[in-house]
Amino acid sequence: MSAEIIDGKAIAKELRATLKSEVEELVDDHGITPGLAVVLVGEDPASQVYVRNKHRACERAGIATRDIRMDEDATHQEVMDAVQELNNDPNIHGILVQLPLPDQIDEEEVLNAIDPAKDVDGFHPFNLGMLLSGQPTFVACTPKGVMHMIDEMGIDLTGKEAVIIGRSTIVGKPQALLLLYRHCTVTICHSRTQDLAEHCRNADVLVAAVGRPHMITGDMIKPGATVIDVGINRLEDGSLVGDVDFDSAVEVAGAITPVPGGVGPMTIAMLLRNTVDAARRAAGL
Ligand code: GUN
Repeated sequence: MSAEIIDGKAIAKELRATLKSEVEELVDDHGITPGLAVVLVGEDPASQVYVRNKHRACERAGIATRDIRMDEDATHQEVMDAVQELNNDPNIHGILVQLPLPDQIDEEEVLNAIDPAKDVDGFHPFNLGMLLSGQPTFVACTPKGVMHMIDEMGIDLTGKEAVIIGRSTIVGKPQALLLLYRHCTVTICHSRTQDLAEHCRNADVLVAAVGRPHMITGDMIKPGATVIDVGINRLEDGSLVGDVDFDSAVEVAGAITPVPGGVGPMTIAMLLRNTVDAARRAAGL
């Protein structure tokens, strides 16, 4: 039996259409055009693709964008100054500093300098703390997008075993909390986990966010499980693959996201969601 394919592209498209109407309403009724600023330091090719896709999605939804591009050798202070300027710009409602940053820049300090009210990535300790305390404000786009996909598929989460592979602050940890709030029994696996396969085989919902191509194979998946592949790995031949070995997993899972066309488009749609929410909140709406 072959799993149902979770079409992230289609789900994201629908959400973007809703957001476009919300933006039109904000412009027409309140004179507010949501604005997103993206800071990109250096020439990382993957980051350039991400940033281009973000801009295109914003443009289509009617969200204004501002691009701040800095040289690979930009100083820490220059990046901090750019963030400060965006914090003070009333036309900018969301700020995203594209990661990774070059080594000379203290990533933590830069992310902490973003005004939490403009932190559409949800990486600031204030917003992470709000999520932990059960009062989510801005939630990181990828885990939030994963939840939206699961809901759109009508998958019931209450009481389910959820296993997340990866413990990053950007995906793994917030994903665990979001699944916990939906009454899953949550396990976080990581590089030191003993017998990863055994944990995976227990999962009704498996979220892979490790960044290792084809690490999760069909024999590690519980029959009928929902498999969400957050990984985007570029192979030497230029092709993009996930953390899950799709061909073997699709034969076992109940539902599965493809790469590309799964989680990726959802992450961008959620960035737009957070930017529109930021603009609304800034206006006290
Ligand atoms: N680099 C890869 N993914 C992301 C993301 O979601 N946000 C930011 N800021 N940088 C990234």
